[in-house]
Amino acid sequence: MSQTTLVTGASSGIGKELAIQFAKHGDNVVLVARSEDKLNDLAEQIRRDYEVVATVICSDLGTTDGVDRLCNQLKDQSIVIDTLVNNAGFGALGKFAELSIDRQTNMLMVNVVALTRLTRALLPAMIERGQGGVLNVGSIAAYQAGPNMSVYYASKAYVLSFTEGLREELAGTGLHVTCLEPGATETGFGEDSGMGKLDMFSSSTMTAQAVAQAGYKGFHKNEDVVIPGWKNRLLVTSVGFLPRFATRKLVGKLQRVQSGE
Ligand SMILES: NC(=O)c1ccc[n+]([C@@H]2O[C@H](COP(=O)([O-])OP(=O)(O)OC[C@H]3O[C@@H](n4cnc5c(N)ncnc54)[C@H](OP(=O)(O)O)[C@@H]3O)[C@@H](O)[C@H]2O)c1
Repeated sequence: MSQTTLVTGASSGIGKELAIQFAKHGDNVVLVARSEDKLNDLAEQIRRDYEVVATVICSDLGTTDGVDRLCNQLKDQSIVIDTLVNNAGFGALGKFAELSIDRQTNMLMVNVVALTRLTRALLPAMIERGQGGVLNVGSIAAYQAGPNMSVYYASKAYVLSFTEGLREELAGTGLHVTCLEPGATETGFGEDSGMGKLDMFSSSTMTAQAVAQAGYKGFHKNEDVVIPGWKNRLLVTSVGFLPRFATRKLVGKLQRVQSGE
C-alpha cells in the first residue's frame, strides 16, 4: 500500500523537487506552503506524471496557529502521514541589530518552531505505524556560526542537533531520521535572503533537483546526515579541523565584505 509524505515548502526550490522525488517513488504527497497557485500547479503535474494522490494544503508556518490548522486539516481529511519532510525555511543577510526583529522572529518560527511543532504533532502516530520517518532540511550553515546572518545559521544548527537527537530517540522504531544539509542551491533562497549576491554563494551552486535526489536517496538508506556535492562535503570537513573562532571570522568577513559594507 502507498505511503504518504508531507512536504513543507513544496511550492518551490528544494521542497518542490523533494515532493517530486517522493511521488516518483510511489508515495502520495501532501504539499504545504503559502502559495496556493504554485502548489496546485505542482499537484497537477505530480498526478499526471506519477499517478499518485497529491493534496494541497495552504498554510503559513510562520505562526503556531498555521501549524495547528494544518494538523487539523489533515485530521479532517483523514490523511495519515508516514513521512514528514520539514523543508520550509528562509534566511536574511544582514547584521542582527539592523535586520527587522519581525523578520528574524518569523524565520525562527518557520525554520525552528514549525519544524518542531509539526514533528511533535505527527510523530506519535508515525511511531505506532513503524514506517516512514522524518527528513529535515538544514544547511551546511549548521557547522559554524555565521556573522551577518547569525539567526539563520543558529536556526540551522538547531535543525541538525534536533535531528540527531531525534534519530537516537527513535532507534529501533523502524522510522528513518535524516538531516539533509545543502550548500548553495539554485532556488529563490539566494535572492530572497540577499545571499545570492555573495561570491561564496554564487560560485558553486547545485540544482535543487540534484539536492533533492541526494536527500531522497540518503533518507531511503536511513543515513543520519546527507551533504550533497563533494565541494560541500569538503567544506564541512575542513571546518571541522579549524577552531570555531577562525571559521566564524572567515564567514563573517566573506559575508560582510561581499554585502558591500
Ligand atoms: N537554496 C539554498 O542555497 C539553500 C542552502 C541550504 C539550505 N537551504 C534550505 O532549503 C530549504 C528550502 O529552501 P529553498 O532553497 O528551496 O528556497 P525557496 O525556493 O525560497 O523555498 C522556500 C520554501 O519555503 C516556503 N516557506 C517560506 N516561508 C513559509 C511560511 N511562512 N509558511 C509556509 N511555507 C513557507 C516557501 O513557500 P511559500 O513562499 O509559498 O510559502 C517555499 O516553498 C530551506 O529550509 C533553506 O533554509 C537552502
